[in-house]
Amino acid sequence: MESGEDRRQEKRRKRRCLILAVIAVILLVVILAIVLGVTLRKRKDDFNTKFMERCQKFKGYNCQKIWDAFQQAYVNRDRCDVPTEAYDPLIATAPFESLCNRTMFWSKTKNVVHDFTRGNDCFKTVEDTLLGSVLNGLEWCGKNGSSETFTTGCPKWEECEKSAVRSFWNRVSAAFGDFACGNVTVMLNGSIDTPFSPTSIFASIEMKKFKSPKVKNLNVVLVIQKNSVTNCTNESLKNLMMGLDKGIGYHCFEVPE
Ligand SMILES: *[C@@H]1O[C@H](CO)[C@@H](O)[C@H](O)[C@H]1NC(C)=O
Ligand SMILES: *[C@@H]1O[C@H](CO)[C@@H](O)[C@H](O)[C@H]1NC(C)=O
Ligand SMILES: *[C@@H]1O[C@H](CO)[C@@H](O)[C@H](O)[C@H]1NC(C)=O
Ligand SMILES: *[C@@H]1O[C@H](CO)[C@@H](O)[C@H](O)[C@H]1NC(C)=O
Ligand SMILES: *[C@@H]1O[C@H](CO)[C@@H](O)[C@H](O)[C@H]1NC(C)=O
Ligand SMILES: *[C@@H]1O[C@H](CO)[C@@H](O)[C@H](O)[C@H]1NC(C)=O
Repeated sequence: MESGEDRRQEKRRKRRCLILAVIAVILLVVILAIVLGVTLRKRKDDFNTKFMERCQKFKGYNCQKIWDAFQQAYVNRDRCDVPTEAYDPLIATAPFESLCNRTMFWSKTKNVVHDFTRGNDCFKTVEDTLLGSVLNGLEWCGKNGSSETFTTGCPKWEECEKSAVRSFWNRVSAAFGDFACGNVTVMLNGSIDTPFSPTSIFASIEMKKFKSPKVKNLNVVLVIQKNSVTNCTNESLKNLMMGLDKGIGYHCFEVPE
């Protein structure tokens, strides 16, 4: 019968279509996986490349060794469980150059302070040091059970106290504060109600490292803009002065931007 032959042919055609469809889906999945894999690898390599490029601007350091010490701090750790001490080996691998009388700290004056230190060689912020400049503006984290570096989906600053990024900045800031000697300068913002905030990194970490007689003076540069609301008489600056180690001199200068 014709209709029986037709049905068999129809069945075969359907089966062929099904097989083709399955092959197409498999191909699509494979292509997607390759594209995704390349993108992810590229993103990771971009991070490593940027790290190396920025590091190599500083002469006389072993950047591969610094990268290895950097990675061991956070890889294979939970994203919110990186203690500041994890970065101790990194700090030891890339010591600061001598900066006596030339360290500049800042709080809430990020843009102005870097324009200022870039324009002259007298003062250096932590972002002008090797570690600070290499990692400035970057995002990274690890994952428990993985040896990879991730550069997206990492915890935001406020999300956890012991993120890879936050612990790094806390550790490098402490090292920079420890390193300060002679005259130390801090640039504060006169346009905000409380230029010296006890919760800032400067107040809670860096300033606590200033010890007399290694540190002689703390010179506050209070940046005054048109809309400034405070001056050197502000109460928060008195708190700063009172919080200094005994023997360290305090001076405040109101400086127009
Ligand atoms: C730092 O300044 C002090 C004076 O405050 C001076 O005695 C000392 O030699 C200076 N150190 C350097 C390295 O310039
Ligand atoms: C001070 O803080 C204000 C408000 O956040 C900001 O607009 C201004 O740029 C800051 N000043 C400096 C010198 O960074
Ligand atoms: C990390 O993973 C290990 C086993 O894979 C587990 O025992 C440990 O509790 C995990 N740590 C955290 C902080 O999640
Ligand atoms: C250190 O700071 C004090 C107080 O501002 C100043 O009198 C002195 O000249 C400064 N010394 C150096 C070397 O910058
Ligand atoms: C400093 O600011 C206070 C108000 O915060 C004001 O009373 C005082 O006159 C100002 N002093 C100077 C020297 O501008
Ligand atoms: C000055 O400092 C005090 C105490 O830290 C703060 O409460 C006050 O609002 C500040 N600003 C001005 C403009 O008085």
